[in-house]
Formats: sequence, C-alpha cells, structure tokens
Amino acid sequence: MLRLDRMLVTLGKGSRSEMQKAIRGGRVRVNGDVQRDPSVQVAEDAEILLNGEKLDTRLTRHVMLHKPAGLLTAARDKKQPTVMDLLPPEYAAIGCMPVGRLDKDTTGLLLTTDGELNHRLLAPARHVDKTYLATLDKPVGDKEVAVFASGLSLSDFEAAPADLTPLPGNQARVTIHEGKFHQVKRMFAAVEREVLTLHRETFGSLALDEALPCGQWRELTEAEASALYRDAQMEEKHG
Ligand code: URA
Repeated sequence: MLRLDRMLVTLGKGSRSEMQKAIRGGRVRVNGDVQRDPSVQVAEDAEILLNGEKLDTRLTRHVMLHKPAGLLTAARDKKQPTVMDLLPPEYAAIGCMPVGRLDKDTTGLLLTTDGELNHRLLAPARHVDKTYLATLDKPVGDKEVAVFASGLSLSDFEAAPADLTPLPGNQARVTIHEGKFHQVKRMFAAVEREVLTLHRETFGSLALDEALPCGQWRELTEAEASALYRDAQMEEKHG
C-alpha cells in the first residue's frame, strides 16, 4: 500500500504538490471513484485514472533494450544523452536503471530493471555469462583461443577462462564470466588485437531479440523475467 499522492509521484506523473492539487481537484479516480484525499492508501494493483487516463501502476518492470552506439550507459548524465532517454520517463521514475555498463560505442543487449534484481545480477559471485560479437583489426586463431581459455591476467584482475570462437571476416564471438570495465577490449588488447566494433548478444539466459531494431526496446516476457530471476538466484517479484 502507498499513499495516493506518493504513488503518482513515484510513477513520474508530477511533483507532490502538483499531484495533491490534481487529487483535490477531482482529477484522480481510484477503482472507479473520484478520490480527493491525497493521503489515502492505495494498493499497487488499484486501477488509477489521472485526467481520465488509466495509469500503468506496476512498480517493477524489466526491459530489454537494443543499445545503439553513441549513447552513454547511465541512469542520467548532465551533459550527454543516456540509454534511459530511449524509455518513457516513468521507467526512470520507478527506479529502472541499466544492468551494468556497455561502452558508448558498444551496441546490443542491455537490460534495465529495478534495485535488488539489478544488484544481484551484477554481484561478482553470480558469474552471469555475457556473449559478445567483436570485429577485430586482425583475425584470431588457435593461439588466442588457448590464451582466452587459460584465463588472462589484466592490470587489475585475473579474467576467468573465456570461450573464444574465431569467425570469418576478422570477427570473433567471446563469452566472459565477469563484467569489468572495458573487459573484452582489454582481453583482446592482451593478445594484440584491437576491437573495432563490439555487440552484446546475450546476458545470462537472455539473448537479444533479433526482431528488436537498434534503438528500440520492449518489456521482457514473463518467461524471460523468470529466467533473469533464476540467473540472479532470487524470488520473483511482480509489478
Ligand atoms: N567489454 C568492453 O570492453 N566493452 C563493453 O562495452 C562491454 C564489455
């Protein structure tokens, strides 16, 4: 249960004083009735209309986003556009934020979700695998596959053994088990390869929906959300 005015603020509909004015002015209906008391407690599954528009009151939402190059992965930034600008503002208002970081020039699968699930997916102990498709300046072969498979020593940590698959056209697919800053680029740099483009294909059990164009997003299906909770070893939480 949440106070009605707080619920509307949490859903990003306006400031507390704006919402109190709307409620007192008879512009808010709860379960069919005009509700003029801003302090009344409402359930998360209540039907709420603001100015006649039915609100999506789910406070937990999981989003799959196909990140384009050129956007910062951050909840917000004073100077540059971020991936959150691709979503309606209510998603940020309810606390959705990117799960981990992709570099500005990296494309592909980025999830956004709320606090605890987000935290657990990123916890080092969880080892949520991520697969990337990289375009390199030079091809890789058996030697690099062996180096990746034995684990790599980077400046600040030892990367766990990673699966590297050489592909035609100077491309390679790599699966890593951590998510350190610039990890994939640094691993390739350690075998004298430069990453020209990087695209994330999977995160844990989830693969980027091939039908999702670059720059677009959609909410996870129930099955996908369940898979994510399993990856995080958490009980499921619904809107
Ligand atoms: N590794 C990188 O180097 N960059 C990314 O964006 C993701 C993983």
